[in-house]
Amino acid sequence: MHVRTRIEDLRKEISELEGAAPTAKDLMEGVCRLLHERMLKYSWVGFYMLEPGAQPPVLVLGAFVGAMTPHTRIPLNQGICGAAASSGKTIVVDDVSKDPRYLACSLETKSEIVVPLFVKGQVVGELDIDSHFPAAFGSEDQKLIQHCAEIVGRRLEKSH
Ligand code: SME
Repeated sequence: MHVRTRIEDLRKEISELEGAAPTAKDLMEGVCRLLHERMLKYSWVGFYMLEPGAQPPVLVLGAFVGAMTPHTRIPLNQGICGAAASSGKTIVVDDVSKDPRYLACSLETKSEIVVPLFVKGQVVGELDIDSHFPAAFGSEDQKLIQHCAEIVGRRLEKSH
């Protein structure tokens, strides 16, 4: 299937999930499941959330689909995850072996994207996706993943 058609179909499923998920946690679990199942190059899909009130701030592993990662708590000065949360910017790494910030989750990972989640303009967490394929996250992927992060941010904002 052409990647654009696959993404269009998936967007419909994500919008159905958005309407049907009773809680933000259900929505995050469903987003992980759908992205992992439908996007064949997304090998690990998960959320890291800032621990409320933690000083110094730390990201804590939340809903995820894929192999267990050794990185369940990530300070903001570590990893691509820390860099995305502290800058509030999406980070795409086409070749993780060339990025000194990278914290290895699996030896097979070749590329990664991390998209921050916002509630009322503040970063509250992020959506992290690893791929076993180099440069797996093109502009269509980025739009899709940012859309998922936006709907989760909206839902979290409602429940705050
Ligand atoms: N690779 C991430 C760590 C999280 S694992 O990929 C699940 C990083 O460099 O921050």
